[in-house]
Amino acid sequence: MGYSINNIKKTAVLSLAILLPWLAYAEQSHGVTDEKEGGTMKSDTITRNAAAYALPPLPYTENALEPVISAKTIGFHYGKHHKGYVDNLNKLVEGTVFSGPGMTLEKIMTETAGKADKAAIFNNAAQAWNHAFYWKSLVPNGGSEPPAELKKKIEASFGTVEACKKELADAATSQFGSGWAWLVQDGAALKVVKTSNADTPITKGMNPLLAIDVWEHAYYLDYQNRRADHVNSVLDKLINWKFAADNLK
Ligand SMILES: [Fe+2]
Repeated sequence: MGYSINNIKKTAVLSLAILLPWLAYAEQSHGVTDEKEGGTMKSDTITRNAAAYALPPLPYTENALEPVISAKTIGFHYGKHHKGYVDNLNKLVEGTVFSGPGMTLEKIMTETAGKADKAAIFNNAAQAWNHAFYWKSLVPNGGSEPPAELKKKIEASFGTVEACKKELADAATSQFGSGWAWLVQDGAALKVVKTSNADTPITKGMNPLLAIDVWEHAYYLDYQNRRADHVNSVLDKLINWKFAADNLK
């Protein structure tokens, strides 16, 4: 039997329909990636665009931060809250310039910050970024001494590491409502700043070194209203000074 023009057209369309999804899949880099080996990353290289932003893997198991933060808290915080921000972002940016090739969470945050009509996109992009950064700001058996270069900079800006920790604790406990406490690099100096809700120092031109999440979802299951107890335990036992040192520019 011979092939009619219509049959050839149908075969071509069918072949394209089968091939295109595979071609699209092959081009994806699947969202948030980590360029540096060893689980650390520069604060400005967290994200890569793909057909969808991805939830980055936790850098440790859900029970690795116990007894300071329980597996139950991490399970909800990472599996529900962080995942929710990533899922919401993917829905919000579908078909917009924010889902185009080369787009990153950092670019979305910078381009949508302070724009009322883009608030939902900013909030979900920033919370996706903040949480990816936060998980790496913690490490099992953390605390203790910062690496030498960071310690020197901390002492130049705060006097002592203890004074830096106290300022971080004060910022984290005095943040009214939901938000974040950050150690940042601002020019030559290191500073402690706090931000509300999803806000991030990145949109203010500062380089984040580490973050402490003080939304209630970060501690309420374990500490209820005792935010200060949670924050002090995090600073003494979990804070990842090596990650902060790796983020110095
Ligand atoms: Fe959070």
